[in-house]
Amino acid sequence: MLFFRALAAALLAGTTLALSPAAHTASGQPIFVAPSGSRVKPVGRNMEVFAPNGTLIHTFENVIPTNLKTKRASSQPIRRQDLSATEAYAEFGPTDVIQSFNTTFVVPPAPTTFESQIIFLSANVQPLDANGVPFGNLRAALQYGGSSVQGGPFWTYAIQLEVPPFGFLQVTNIGANPDLDVGQHIISTLVYDAEFSDDGIFWYIASFDNVTDAPTLEVGWQVPPQIAALELEVEGVSQASDYPAGSFVFEQVNLNLTTGPPTISWNTSVDPTTNVEVTVDVDGSENAQISIVFPSS
Ligand SMILES: *[C@@H]1O[C@H](CO)[C@@H](O)[C@H](O)[C@H]1NC(C)=O
Ligand SMILES: *[C@@H]1O[C@H](CO)[C@@H](O)[C@H](O)[C@H]1NC(C)=O
Ligand SMILES: *[C@@H]1O[C@H](CO)[C@@H](O)[C@H](O)[C@H]1NC(C)=O
Ligand SMILES: *[C@@H]1O[C@H](CO)[C@@H](O)[C@H](O)[C@H]1NC(C)=O
Ligand SMILES: *[C@@H]1O[C@H](CO)[C@@H](O)[C@H](O)[C@H]1NC(C)=O
Repeated sequence: MLFFRALAAALLAGTTLALSPAAHTASGQPIFVAPSGSRVKPVGRNMEVFAPNGTLIHTFENVIPTNLKTKRASSQPIRRQDLSATEAYAEFGPTDVIQSFNTTFVVPPAPTTFESQIIFLSANVQPLDANGVPFGNLRAALQYGGSSVQGGPFWTYAIQLEVPPFGFLQVTNIGANPDLDVGQHIISTLVYDAEFSDDGIFWYIASFDNVTDAPTLEVGWQVPPQIAALELEVEGVSQASDYPAGSFVFEQVNLNLTTGPPTISWNTSVDPTTNVEVTVDVDGSENAQISIVFPSS
């Protein structure tokens, strides 16, 4: 009897603390929506979502792998390549801490055809487990196309945490219009929150710094994210006109570690099922430039 009462209480607690998915991706992953300024904190194997007022509003359960390398680990997991990603990326060792990862870009023309495709363009950071598999992806993304959370045949912002393969958390500002204008200059920042990170957790804030009313999201992990990537993700694209014309350029890419700007050269990877290319126009961690070149036909 007591056991059942405890169980019922636990289930009740679980329900009151859970957000309902606002939508699902095409592959069935849930998308949860939280207020701007929410924080996602690792507790054991869970990621707990706290609203800006400190209330626990959601728990992603058992999403943190058990085989994390600690700060003192000597060998570096080599990232498993994701064949469906088109990106330029840099990989760091387990003792490196990314201080900031910024870029600017201009919102490109919209694709000339819309057939419910979704396009995400983002600078993002990803923590890896001991096998080199990412278990998170924090990004301030430029979105084209409608998810059932927002959007349509136009550009919007989507400030998100992906918890692969368990779903997405996206933040919104109530009443804010997420639409972005073609030709608008955007600053994307991912910044290490050093002041907050005195609890053995590495906290990062994602935002579009100079977009009025754009939300922010802060996420912590027990290990520093080892991947910084400039990435294109697409779903439902079938012809050249489903992409913007020309290229999308990540300009003024600045990547700093807590030890200062590293000497890096960007690695690239393309999704072999598309004709999209990635070019490193200016290499390095300071004022680099990376282009995503869309097919012309
Ligand atoms: C805290 O914020 C959450 C999410 O916005 C809201 O549902 C809740 O009512 C707020 N709680 C208090 C005490 O203000
Ligand atoms: C690029 O890939 C090579 C081979 O996997 C690796 O040795 C190098 O560290 C990578 N560079 C960056 C910046 O991640
Ligand atoms: C945002 O920053 C970019 C790059 O510095 C600048 O070109 C643009 O004018 C800024 N936009 C606003 C609205 O301040
Ligand atoms: C990235 O942007 C943040 C916020 O504006 C700034 O504090 C930081 O210095 C920038 N980092 C670099 C390497 O420019
Ligand atoms: C890189 O980060 C370090 C540590 O916070 C800081 O002292 C330095 O000014 C930063 N450099 C740049 C170029 O932002």
